[in-house]
Amino acid sequence: MRIEVVPLGPGFFAEVRGAGLTEVVASDDAYARVREAFEEHSVLLFRDQPVTDELQAAYSRRFGPLETAKAASLGEGTPYSILTNIDRVTGGLVPPGHKEELRAKANQLWHTDSCFKIPPALASVLSARVVPPSGGETEFASTRLAWDRLAPSLRARLEHAVAWHDYAHSRGKIARELASDREKSTMPPVSWRMRWRNPANARDSLYIASHTYAIDGMPDEAAQALIDELTAAATAPGHTWQHRWRAGDVIMWDNRAVLHRGRPWPSDKPRHMVRTTITATDADGLADMWPQARAAAVAR
Ligand code: OGA
Ligand code: MN
Repeated sequence: MRIEVVPLGPGFFAEVRGAGLTEVVASDDAYARVREAFEEHSVLLFRDQPVTDELQAAYSRRFGPLETAKAASLGEGTPYSILTNIDRVTGGLVPPGHKEELRAKANQLWHTDSCFKIPPALASVLSARVVPPSGGETEFASTRLAWDRLAPSLRARLEHAVAWHDYAHSRGKIARELASDREKSTMPPVSWRMRWRNPANARDSLYIASHTYAIDGMPDEAAQALIDELTAAATAPGHTWQHRWRAGDVIMWDNRAVLHRGRPWPSDKPRHMVRTTITATDADGLADMWPQARAAAVAR
């Protein structure tokens, strides 16, 4: 097997050729090579994959334990988060203003997946099952490269800072009651350090998202302004990469090291995507992310 890793994006995002999901499931060598590419490039694209739910889950499990889809989402309780505007019962498209359409809008805010969960996510694997003829792209930005671009004084300040994340916060930017009471009660706010260090290569990333609403020790307004500024800098023109999907594409991204967002598409066109999400473990640098780890670091 000759696996090629072809960089496509501005310092991150690469296409893997010569091996796909099946080979990673079957071969330890293929897994090791793809894992290495994942740690290095943060986003990996596989084209023309014979995707099934089972293959996608088996591939994803290579990298760690899988999350179950969150409360009140399509796929709740299974490993599959379903992002679709196709009504499961009628097979038609959901009407304008439907919850799934509002959710798609919320996904169009720059974010990282599951920073509002304990534990948060290492990676997401998204497969394109039905793709609209135009729009519906997904964009990525490296928070690792963004970290490196920060002024050293700001980096020093953020290194031990702790930020708060809440699913209801990002949903509230789209519609006031988009997050239901059940979503709120099953996903209360959580806090993590704002710098995630990858133990595989000692590279640091900025850990923020549309879900981030506060920073310990800062007035809320100043914190929100800083979060917005950091997001804008991370996703500034020239630093993002947009992927135009084809059915059969699979993209895996590192939630520690990139932000992503969906792009709009015509509401009369179907789009159906399936995501599996891999939970972060201490081996992925999570041990250092707890707020207590910050308290210990500051005390040292
Ligand atoms: C996701 C996500 C965006 C998109 O699957 O986590 O944010 O373009 N997707 O579907
Ligand atoms: Mn997402």
